[in-house]
Amino acid sequence: MCQTEKNIFNILKQATKCLISHDITEAKTDAETLLCGVLNITRNKLTTIRQETLSQEQYKKYQKYINRRITREPVAYILGETEFMGLQFKVNNTVLIPRQETELIVDIANDIIKKNNISTVLDLCTGSGCIAVSIAKYNPNILVTSVDISSKALSIAKENAVRNEVSQQINFIESNMFNNIIGKKFDIIISNPPYVMLDEYKKLEKEIFFEPKIAFLAGTDGLDFYRVIAEKVKYFLNKDGVLLLELNANISLKIVDLFRNFIFTKIRKDYSGLDRILIAQNG
Ligand SMILES: C[S@@+](CC[C@H](N)C(=O)[O-])C[C@H]1O[C@@H](n2cnc3c(N)ncnc32)[C@H](O)[C@@H]1O
Repeated sequence: MCQTEKNIFNILKQATKCLISHDITEAKTDAETLLCGVLNITRNKLTTIRQETLSQEQYKKYQKYINRRITREPVAYILGETEFMGLQFKVNNTVLIPRQETELIVDIANDIIKKNNISTVLDLCTGSGCIAVSIAKYNPNILVTSVDISSKALSIAKENAVRNEVSQQINFIESNMFNNIIGKKFDIIISNPPYVMLDEYKKLEKEIFFEPKIAFLAGTDGLDFYRVIAEKVKYFLNKDGVLLLELNANISLKIVDLFRNFIFTKIRKDYSGLDRILIAQNG
């Protein structure tokens, strides 16, 4: 790392400068977040200790973190955890890092659960388990089934269920989409499936290439997984059941068109004004 100064204020200044010189866009935030990780403190606390110094061990650990960030490794992988829906999730390079925009699908699910008589939820393509675990945590009477094709992702999801004390509410199934879900129907099916087109993928920022490719790629038109869901979801959804899908905003209308046999479909935009969630109701 390109830093020599020793008090926290100067260390942060140097680290930020160093990250900027390596084209990291959120350099200041990243430098601060990584230091909070080293010191195991909150961002608020960090502002109160800027004149203090680091021990040699802390400084070395911070150097290692900054050196990893320079390679464009995401902050969440460096720290080994991230926050989603106010909960902490373990992450490593076998799972997609939960994105803030995915909180919207959980908010919508929580709203539907509170207003209706819902008892079962299927989370297809669960990854770190962020959706399944959050729904279970905020709705203690709900039973969730979590599916992923990756056994490594499922083992992280299981750890996250234990960490957030909801493992009694979640059944984990290793499955290629619906293939191993036998004889079950659900009140809500929710999914943030892979939805990136091959051409889009190649142009994504460097950080993305630390994440598992299978979490993103969905064929040449981005629709592969939406097609499977459209073809099979009705066999697994109760009458009046609700399907909630995170959308690739660039192809949202094509996705909605795949679900025209539902009695009701609606798109919810995210906070940046992009088409983000499809809500569809079974007849
Ligand atoms: C976009 S990530 C979503 C992860 C998590 N639900 C989230 O929102 O952060 C997609 C997930 O789908 C999983 N996946 C890919 N192909 C699959 C398949 N054929 N069947 C089931 N899961 C699959 C990947 O392993 C990955 O965990």
